[in-house]
Amino acid sequence: MAAMQQNKKEIKINTKYPSVDDLRNRAKQRIPKFAFEYLDGGCNEDVNLHKNTSEIREVELLPYYLSKHTGSSMKTELFGHVYDAPFGIAPVGLQGLMWPNAPEILAKSAFEHNIPFILSTVTTSSIERISEITEGKAWFQLYHPTEDSVRDDIIKRAEAAECPVLVILADVPTFGFRPRDIRNGLAMPPKMSVKNILQILGKPNWAMQTLRHGQPNFETLKPYMPKGLDLAQLGKFMDKTFSGRLNEEKIKPIRDMWKGKLVIKGVANEADAESAIRLGLDGIIVSNHGGRQLDAGESTIKPLARIAEKYGDQIKVMMDSGLRGGPDIARTMASGAEFTFMGRSFMYGVAALGAKGGDHTISLLKTELQQVMEQICCEEVKDFPNHLI
Ligand SMILES: Cc1cc2nc3c(=O)[nH]c(=O)nc-3n(C[C@H](O)[C@H](O)[C@H](O)COP(=O)(O)O)c2cc1C
Repeated sequence: MAAMQQNKKEIKINTKYPSVDDLRNRAKQRIPKFAFEYLDGGCNEDVNLHKNTSEIREVELLPYYLSKHTGSSMKTELFGHVYDAPFGIAPVGLQGLMWPNAPEILAKSAFEHNIPFILSTVTTSSIERISEITEGKAWFQLYHPTEDSVRDDIIKRAEAAECPVLVILADVPTFGFRPRDIRNGLAMPPKMSVKNILQILGKPNWAMQTLRHGQPNFETLKPYMPKGLDLAQLGKFMDKTFSGRLNEEKIKPIRDMWKGKLVIKGVANEADAESAIRLGLDGIIVSNHGGRQLDAGESTIKPLARIAEKYGDQIKVMMDSGLRGGPDIARTMASGAEFTFMGRSFMYGVAALGAKGGDHTISLLKTELQQVMEQICCEEVKDFPNHLI
């Protein structure tokens, strides 16, 4: 174990897994194929998925070796809170299917490391439980409910749970076309087909943990779900309860109701960024859902640069999709993002290392980013753009 003191939280990494890729490989060995493929896959032919990372990695940084250096700090102010690093945990659905208690594990680690954790509407822990773990620091991502009464109730619960930031989602007007999930018959709870049972039997650790924690459920949605739904009824319930296609008319009442910071995630062009500003939103996350929705779309680093340059002084511009380590965070910040998020990297960590996965992955990313900052002589995160080649 390598240990090093940094900020308040001790940074400890498991030296067997010194990269997100190592965690991904371990995760693949530890969890059933249907769960790994749900996490790992993009959509259609995975073009957008791969482009996200490869195009971030085309960004190059300029080091200054002879300049005065008095130390580098990752501390980043965002929406009135000073976080310990410029990255957070993106909302991921069905987390408990990949590893039991995954949302609780990640929320606790995020809280201890003083970085933001975003809870998805469709994950396996409730707003209330995550708020308790994070002392009201977690953000909440709202899938847009069809019924106003459900929307208002969820928003009130997020407010009562003291969520500082509500994130609405722009980029799921349709379900992404994901061949692996179609092939695997992915469902919640997992379908007990012979194929899936064989996959589960091959992963005894996952099976034991899942048995111990019980079947994962959509905890935040429980109050709105009729009891005892079978799988087909559950799918219909989800279709009926949410309408992913957003528009200005749907956003306005949310802006009126929500007194905290309001962020829109899934912005991929200047026109949508302009709408967000016009509607009085506080931030945008330039994102393509980790390449899971539009295989023919751009990678996120391209619109990020355009949007940050044009609107960076009017709204907080953040980015996710494709980042897999400290150098990627640095490249993204240098390209104009004020904050970054990652989805898969953290879930690989938890699937690989269980309860220790959140702490390890955050420690790893902090260590990598600190090294880049010191290497290029970047003292504060806001100085990253000065290192863009
Ligand atoms: C398995 C999985 C499930 C996801 N579920 C949600 C979700 O419920 N809500 C949401 O806003 N985004 C969801 N996303 C998108 C992430 O929030 C984020 O945009 C994406 O993972 C970023 O790309 P990265 O995985 O390359 O870091 C999901 C992503 C993955 C990989």
